[in-house]
Amino acid sequence: MNDESDTSIWLFGYGSLIYKVDFPFLERRRARIRGWTRRFWQGSHDHRGTPEAPGRVVTLIADADAVCTGMAYRVTPDVFAHLDHREKNGYAREASQFFFDDGSHAPGVVYVANPGNEAYLGPAGEHEIAKHIAASRGPSGENHDYLLALAHALRELGSEDAHVFDIERELRELLRGNLTEAESSLSPQLAGGRGLG
Ligand code: SIN
Repeated sequence: MNDESDTSIWLFGYGSLIYKVDFPFLERRRARIRGWTRRFWQGSHDHRGTPEAPGRVVTLIADADAVCTGMAYRVTPDVFAHLDHREKNGYAREASQFFFDDGSHAPGVVYVANPGNEAYLGPAGEHEIAKHIAASRGPSGENHDYLLALAHALRELGSEDAHVFDIERELRELLRGNLTEAESSLSPQLAGGRGLG
């Protein structure tokens, strides 16, 4: 019989997988991956938009010099049935190395939506992306909640992500008076600033 540590796999989350943890895990740790940068370049047909009016969510774009901070979860393989369904709109699992704060590293998998997938939208300026997000919603809710929750989670992780924070600033300007209402509709977890540790 296998010990669970023999069959567990590290999964790296860099978008909603940081803050929406609807799957069991054995352990989680802040981690970094190298050679990838987080970008709001992926369309969302099934969570934060629709096929007719896709929202914008994050993917990873290859960039040799980049380092991306996120959350790594040690999970058992059965968890991937749920996660593959959740991430089915253009994402595929890729193997990568995860680097932990204590200097150790481990192999694992990360969901990447590569250019060319059916929902891929590609680059746009931060202001354009903010406008797009402000106008989008889908079965999982408002697109702006995805952005605000991600920005909040990245601050809790101590991650400086200029792309995400620039879009957040643009979005807050666009929403202005409406923002208080929008934030109060976020889950208590986000509104209360619950620690991730
Ligand atoms: C991830 O969070 O790791 C993948 C992208 C997403 O689900 O937002």
